[in-house]
Amino acid sequence: MSELVKRYTASVFFDKRLWQADIQGSLAHAEMLAAQKIIGASDLADIQRGMAQITQEIESGAFEWKLDLEDVHLNIEARLTALVGDAGKRLHTGRSRNDQVATDVRLWLRSEMDLIIALLVDLQKSLVDVAEKNVEVILPGFTHLQVAQPVSFAHHLLAYVEMFARDAERMSDVRRRTNRLPLGSAALAGTTYPLDRERVARTLGMVDDQGHPQVCQNSLDGVSDRDFAIEFTAAASLCMMHISRMSEELILWMSQNFGFVKIADRFTTGSSIMPQKKNPDVPELARGKTGRVFGHLMGLLTLMKGQPLAYNKDNQEDKEPLFDTVDTLKDTLRIFSEMIGGQLNPASGHKEGGITVNASAMDTAVKKGYATATDLADYLVKKGLPFRDAHETVAHAVKAATSHNCDLSELPLNVLQGFHASIEKDVYDVLSLRGSLNARNTLGGTAPAQVKLQIARHRARLM
Ligand code: ARG
Repeated sequence: MSELVKRYTASVFFDKRLWQADIQGSLAHAEMLAAQKIIGASDLADIQRGMAQITQEIESGAFEWKLDLEDVHLNIEARLTALVGDAGKRLHTGRSRNDQVATDVRLWLRSEMDLIIALLVDLQKSLVDVAEKNVEVILPGFTHLQVAQPVSFAHHLLAYVEMFARDAERMSDVRRRTNRLPLGSAALAGTTYPLDRERVARTLGMVDDQGHPQVCQNSLDGVSDRDFAIEFTAAASLCMMHISRMSEELILWMSQNFGFVKIADRFTTGSSIMPQKKNPDVPELARGKTGRVFGHLMGLLTLMKGQPLAYNKDNQEDKEPLFDTVDTLKDTLRIFSEMIGGQLNPASGHKEGGITVNASAMDTAVKKGYATATDLADYLVKKGLPFRDAHETVAHAVKAATSHNCDLSELPLNVLQGFHASIEKDVYDVLSLRGSLNARNTLGGTAPAQVKLQIARHRARLM
């Protein structure tokens, strides 16, 4: 091989990241080989001793990764053989790098998904914390980015909690299908050695909820399936899409024209030329990084679409998109939980420096857009008008309010009665923001009573 081809085909400088999973998988395999009397007890002891030393060397930075040895698997195996001799050479009995790498990626991704699920829980808790303090804060709810109806700010935040709860659920679901053992598929057709694959699965914690070992049941599929990686990237893409929508809202809300929220200075930057600027870099970058995660999803789908069974070297290209997806998602989730919920101050035991809410700016904005017009229509319906007629009557009232440059609630009673005789003094309860909010007291609605129920439900769930 020329130097260029060596560099082109090698993966060690990125797949060395799998080293822990690689050693974990090798130890489980060796332990089973010994139990099945395929290798001797002293071979197993040598392998265990060698792997303990390699672990130490990698952790301390002393391990020398060699391009000549192509990938993480060959690097570790070569070092093992240098350290313990023949036992190192016996480790690969009944195994191929094809089932080895498939196992490593699954083990690695499984532990990353566990971290991601925990980070999703943290982010939900941050949102619930802020929601709890803002149940009675009212902002305009939008459709088409036009003021529609008043909603509780807590209710708005809890919409995102729902999304992140589904994201966590999806991750757990992907985890189930990731947590299955390819090892024992060997190169593609299985092996002639009497392996106990279920034992290896149990050792590696690849078991279902009842503790039954989960083993890939077809060797060709076992070495070539990367569905789990694609599913993970799809779940990550959905999660980033939710983050990106939230980012978009934060960016709008932080602009002077809204002024609804502020995020702490440590998440913003100034401009090199305009001294007054405080730019929402973190949400903007998150929105931008969403694009690269979507790109990785498309990349992985395309990587797989033309591959005949079973393993092909193409698969080596699954790692960088997967690594980058995991890194991007984890960093984004961490930074968002902190940006929204704040950072724990160990001295006070409280979180500090989260999002700041400007309730009066929200109040001003919601009063600009006739947000209680639907409430007036509903009021007229309760007085016996058909909804379509009520809708039209209210349209006239809104027109009048527009020409007086005031809110519906600021029109005098006699003017309102000019639109319909059934209107009485109690109409002002309906036209108030709080009245409008309280009236939406159905399951999933924005009434504070409902929002409090949801907060309690999330609290219990996120314990
Ligand atoms: N580095 C390879 C990968 O990431 C390991 C498997 C290589 N197998 C092979 N038959 N060349 O996929």
